[in-house]
Amino acid sequence: TDGPLKDRRDRAVQDLRISVTDRCNFRCIYCMPRSVFGADYPFLPRKELLSFEEITRIARRFATRGVRKIRITGGEPLLRKHVENLIEMLAQIPDVELTLTTNGVLLPKMARTLKDAGLDRVTISLDAIDDPTFRLMNDADFPVAAVLEGIAAAKDAGLGPIKVNMVVKRGVNDQGILDMARHFRGSGHILRFIEFMDVGSSNGWKLDSVVPSREIIQRIDQVFPLEQVDPNYTGEVAERWRYRDGAGEIGVISSVTQAFCSTCSRIRLSTEGKLYTCLFAQTGHDLRDMLRAGVSDAELDQTIAGVWHNREDRYSEIRTANTAGLRKIEMSYIGG
Ligand code: GTP
Ligand code: 5AD
Ligand code: SF4
Ligand code: SF4
Repeated sequence: TDGPLKDRRDRAVQDLRISVTDRCNFRCIYCMPRSVFGADYPFLPRKELLSFEEITRIARRFATRGVRKIRITGGEPLLRKHVENLIEMLAQIPDVELTLTTNGVLLPKMARTLKDAGLDRVTISLDAIDDPTFRLMNDADFPVAAVLEGIAAAKDAGLGPIKVNMVVKRGVNDQGILDMARHFRGSGHILRFIEFMDVGSSNGWKLDSVVPSREIIQRIDQVFPLEQVDPNYTGEVAERWRYRDGAGEIGVISSVTQAFCSTCSRIRLSTEGKLYTCLFAQTGHDLRDMLRAGVSDAELDQTIAGVWHNREDRYSEIRTANTAGLRKIEMSYIGG
């Protein structure tokens, strides 16, 4: 059953994103608003989580069918106990790039261990470079310095080139776009601006709060002239721009104003073992019960192939004001 797997829109599966916990120490207003994810929120009990062996087994099946990039996400993946052991297991899979998305605050403690375990790169979220705005975004009183220390630790450990993700919400942190650009210019890190999306059903998304990437590029270009750069590969999520003066590169991720579903090669494995063929999916396909009932690799392969073959998702292309209200899976549960 080898060879590239194609879905109904002729897209191959190349990128597997694995959520290893639904918990987070942040309460970002666009992801885990405190009003919903409060003290009595029912996070998944431990026995519901896939074990590292189960995750690795699924990842290996995907690697035989074309997956070349694995991203560990959450929630905050560094909160998963001994996540470095999982990294070590996944790093044994040949020809796969292994990356992780984190809020960064645990990196000073963990970056070296993660690198030694075989992690290739990290992407770090940071939504503002000034403390009051950042605290407003993370809603858990974390200071900017904690994340900057994480970025420095990742760099020192050799987990670069580092990407820094800023989700932009109009009226909340968009006044800080230029300051962020200025801070990371010349640092060697790649800052990427992400349009606020209507993931999940609890973040109160409205089109008015989206700052279109065009506008972000214009605002920066007026002060630091930019030119566009060709994609690294087809289907790359971020559009690349570079400073004309040589101070490095930035990116914009425009899932709202310029959907990129037509080349979407991503599949997501949730914390409790369900496969989601889209970030905006309403249902997933459970693998955990199959694993725990003792399926063979051949049966697992067949299920995985079936899920991908049937895939038709293109949510961002058909998004309207009305679809924002649909009951969708939370991002903290299937991973960014
Ligand atoms: P690298 O280029 O390897 O760093 O990966 P990437 O560009 O996929 O970056 P990353 O995984 O950090 O994704 C950045 C952000 O883009 C995510 O946090 C999401 O907000 C958004 N994103 C990623 N994949 C998708 C997708 O499939 N659909 C939509 N709508 N948004 C996505
Ligand atoms: N819109 C856009 N990006 C989001 N992320 C989480 N929620 C949203 C949202 N509503 C992304 C951010 C963060 C990563 C973990 O997930 O990039 O850095
Ligand atoms: Fe946590 Fe990342 Fe979601 Fe923020 S965006 S609440 S850091 S998982
Ligand atoms: Fe892929 Fe769904 Fe995102 Fe479109 S909306 S790019 S299909 S994950």
